[in-house]
Amino acid sequence: MTKVKNVVMLGFGDMGKGIAQVCLMAGYNVIAVDVSDEIIEKGLEYNKNGFEKLEAKGKLPEGISAGDIMANLSVNKALAEAVKNADLVIEAVVEKLDVKQKLCNTVIENSPDHCIFASNTSSISITEIAQGCNKPQNVIGMHFFNPAPLMRLIEVIKGDKSSDEAMDIGVEFSESLPCLRGKRFVARVLKDRPGFIVNRVLSPSSMYSNYIVDLAYEKGIPWEQVDADLSGPNAPMTSLTLSDFTGRDIAYHAQLYYAEKLSPDFKPGNVLKMQVKEGKLGKKTGQGFYDWSQGRPQPDLSKKAGLVNRLVFGAISANEGCRILEEGVVSSWSVIDEAILAGMNFPGPMKFATEHYEEMAKLLEEYSEKLQKPYLKPCELLKTGKFVDMV
Ligand SMILES: NC(=O)c1ccc[n+]([C@@H]2O[C@H](COP(=O)([O-])OP(=O)(O)OC[C@H]3O[C@@H](n4cnc5c(N)ncnc54)[C@H](O)[C@@H]3O)[C@@H](O)[C@H]2O)c1
Repeated sequence: MTKVKNVVMLGFGDMGKGIAQVCLMAGYNVIAVDVSDEIIEKGLEYNKNGFEKLEAKGKLPEGISAGDIMANLSVNKALAEAVKNADLVIEAVVEKLDVKQKLCNTVIENSPDHCIFASNTSSISITEIAQGCNKPQNVIGMHFFNPAPLMRLIEVIKGDKSSDEAMDIGVEFSESLPCLRGKRFVARVLKDRPGFIVNRVLSPSSMYSNYIVDLAYEKGIPWEQVDADLSGPNAPMTSLTLSDFTGRDIAYHAQLYYAEKLSPDFKPGNVLKMQVKEGKLGKKTGQGFYDWSQGRPQPDLSKKAGLVNRLVFGAISANEGCRILEEGVVSSWSVIDEAILAGMNFPGPMKFATEHYEEMAKLLEEYSEKLQKPYLKPCELLKTGKFVDMV
């Protein structure tokens, strides 16, 4: 198996600069490629400052300075030249299939035979990215969570034609990357299905939250009370603050994507459609559920609306977890829970489901009727509890 030494970071934006940082910390040589000079400057600054801070805190390996690490980072705007000696190219450019396909092809054409192209896409099929290049066996997914230096999870995804060797190299490489917040968890995604593991398992919960916010809107219930229903006790941000923070447009596009790929039941709800139409996207536009013009809102959660049955969220996610087990995306429920904990910092639904699947299946029968969403019906693995042994 080829040992990775030279990495090309293709796309040096929000994700790329963080992924480059962890590759440099692990001792790899990194060449950054981006079309924007401004982004390159910002990325270099981010890395320099980051390493200087770590040095000051004594968090760099013994005898290694920020300057030593930065000496392993260079820039080359010409992709074909930058990949000449690359063992691994990690791509984090805009989320557009045609752009990724074109870059994948350029990389495969101009890099050594063994070079692996790993895409950090959050939603595009790895198989489709590899289509059109003449070595699809060398193409895999390597999905980091934001910010890459802090979030422990990396999903390594097998496209339909990815070779086992490319997957093994991707997993071994990912495991070698440090994480500033604990031990990395690398999840092998065995099938290229929409959303991979974490985003997929959490995605259908939007059907229930859309239902709740639409209902609250119709009844004129204040968002703070709905938020009090939806928010977990120890979360760093309330649920609706987090929705605003991430951006309502992001949720809207994600739901349309799953509506196209998995089921029309994912289509955005009325409130979400209205927010997007009116430009109430959350933090980025100063208004979402809350007013952000004076900074992060501090909602008063002392009064609940009483609209939410929290077990429904767990049941929906556990059901989706069972679906990806049925589809062969993962082979054990424990991987799902570990991946959610490492990628999102909250516990996954599967362990709880091992003891409560009958109750969950009943609840899903009831709620799929109530919400008019056939997709929420319990799947066979959840109904029968047969997933319990797939540890
Ligand atoms: N932001 C997240 O939370 C997150 C999390 C996981 C995965 N992702 C995925 O990572 C990828 C990048 O996302 P981001 O948030 O870093 O976006 P970003 O907009 O911050 O960065 C994308 C970069 O790609 C560059 N770029 C565009 N076309 C290029 C080309 N032809 N050649 C070289 N560089 C080019 C842009 O100049 C930009 O700097 C996307 O596929 C996204 O879905 C994002």
